[in-house]
Amino acid sequence: MRDETGRVGSDVVDGHPVEGSPPEFHIPVMVQEVVEGLITDPSGIYVDCTFGEGGHTLEILKRIAGHGGKVIGIDKDLEILRYAEKRLKPFEGSFELFHGPFSNVDLILRGLKVRAAHGVLFDLGVSSYQLDAEQRGFSFDKEGPLDMRMDLQSPRKAEDAVNGLKEAELEKILRAYGEEPFSRSIAKQIVLRRPILSTLELVEAVRAGIPVKVRQKMRKHFATRTFQAFRIHVNRELEELENGLAKSLQILCQGGRIVTVSFHSLEDRIVKNFFRDHSTKEGSGSGLKIITKKPLVPSEEEVYRNRRARSAKLRIAETL
Ligand SMILES: C[S@@+](CC[C@H](N)C(=O)[O-])C[C@H]1O[C@@H](n2cnc3c(N)ncnc32)[C@H](O)[C@@H]1O
Repeated sequence: MRDETGRVGSDVVDGHPVEGSPPEFHIPVMVQEVVEGLITDPSGIYVDCTFGEGGHTLEILKRIAGHGGKVIGIDKDLEILRYAEKRLKPFEGSFELFHGPFSNVDLILRGLKVRAAHGVLFDLGVSSYQLDAEQRGFSFDKEGPLDMRMDLQSPRKAEDAVNGLKEAELEKILRAYGEEPFSRSIAKQIVLRRPILSTLELVEAVRAGIPVKVRQKMRKHFATRTFQAFRIHVNRELEELENGLAKSLQILCQGGRIVTVSFHSLEDRIVKNFFRDHSTKEGSGSGLKIITKKPLVPSEEEVYRNRRARSAKLRIAETL
């Protein structure tokens, strides 16, 4: 299936039954801006740390494959790698895919004997594939188990946190990772209703924890923040992002780019602070030059075509 380094063999894909696959692939967000921000040398090596359904990788490959460039794709989700690898068939030989956390990007490059990369991309969050697959438990509008793991081999599911943590710990997770103003009453409702075993049971606990008048005025679904909080907790998303950014600095060549697309303020703040903390005045040695003083956002037209893009923020920095 995959070797001990996490590498996904192409034999895995051929003949692999892809069950419950959505009919369409995830639409990559701000794809032109990402590709233009990332590629500085078409013969370079680019790391797509969040390969997902390969939408960004595909666009990068279109620009670089004929010039000797290469993409290394990483994802925690082995199922998605198998599902999406087939899309890259025309570019065989110009990419390598790896299963694992992007915080291992340095080890993966070392295993490939790659000394430095020209660009690293982080398109954060979950993909349409994961959201659409009800058995993965990411979606609050589909009945499914309380799973929410990006990596199905990891031991910790959302169900364990929801049913196992103390009320005060639940409240903390909801506040810290969901920025949920009703964290206390939602945590209380969760504890009252345990065991909670499905996504829709969790939605009911959230419903009971938020006053009806507040719920009616909400622009987003009232369970959005709670689901975000448990997803971040289960997948250690913020720690991963901090580690992934730090590792990027170690593997990029001079003039290499870090491109991030984030979808909520917690992620964006981590990127913004990381870029700021590592920014150096040009000529003063190592560090980062911030290319996007303010984050780029999608055009109205893109948001119209792809609602998922509406909260995207794109940031770019370059190593000095
Ligand atoms: C928004 S999707 C990427 C979509 C992709 N850019 C495309 O165009 O198809 C994010 C992906 O990153 C993966 N992911 C999130 N955090 C990760 C991490 N720490 N390590 C590896 N993969 C991660 C998720 O499993 C998901 O497939």
